Amino acid sequence: MIKRIQAWFKQKGTDHAPLELSSDNIPKHVAIIMDGNGRWAKKRGLPRIAGHHSGMKAVKRVTIAANDLGVKVLTMYAFSTENWKRPKEEVDFLMKLPQQFLAIELDELIANNVQVRMMGLRDDLPSHTIQALEEAIDKTKHNTGLILNFALNYGGQREIVESVRSIAQHVQAGKLKIEDIEEAVVQEHLMSSELPNPDLLIRTSGELRLSNFMLWQIAYSELWFTDVYWPEFNERHLKEAVAEYQRRSRRYGGLQ
Ligand code: FPP
Repeated sequence: MIKRIQAWFKQKGTDHAPLELSSDNIPKHVAIIMDGNGRWAKKRGLPRIAGHHSGMKAVKRVTIAANDLGVKVLTMYAFSTENWKRPKEEVDFLMKLPQQFLAIELDELIANNVQVRMMGLRDDLPSHTIQALEEAIDKTKHNTGLILNFALNYGGQREIVESVRSIAQHVQAGKLKIEDIEEAVVQEHLMSSELPNPDLLIRTSGELRLSNFMLWQIAYSELWFTDVYWPEFNERHLKEAVAEYQRRSRRYGGLQ
């Protein structure tokens, strides 16, 4: 009988199978490459921007779910330094999403004690995008719950370049000796310097690559990939990723 039930779950997917999570091993920092918005829309005969709009709703859903689970930091890859190559109409739409999202959701984020942050190159972003984010960052800066960190106009390689430049300036100014440059110094100059490195990296939509996301910080992150398109990603999927994370043995290059 048990075998038949297990086979049924396997065939139907795991949507109803109970998921046991251990509350003392929740990843502190979950980072997500939210992929598949375009394909989700195409499958439904909708324009790509409809996929992004639906993806915005998933951001809210997953933020609340992560907060409820006890995740401390959730970094969402919302726009990469390479995404400017997309058609102008799509870029313009993506640049309006933070504003739209915050207009609808900021009150609830505040009610949930969420702190909004962003990392990325601010200078190239339209003023309406940056203004909406800065207002949310300011209004939530004293919140002590989950940190919702938007990676916007962000690229991992660019971040490392910026870190190297900043370190070089410190050396030039005589504040730092070359022999004192080590991993911790590079880390301190990253855009995410105030955050722990991700414990768990999730990528949706079946693509198996990192797409220039947090390249330094994910050196020892656990990676979890799913075929689910981002607009369909929900609390259940997040829990599945965390359950898998809890089955992994993290050795950081050492032995158990
Ligand atoms: C990749 O999917 C997704 C993006 C480049 C944008 C992600 C943005 C969101 C999910 C919404 C963000 C919301 C806020 C609040 C900022 P894709 O378009 O490349 O999908 P495809 O590979 O199927 O074409």
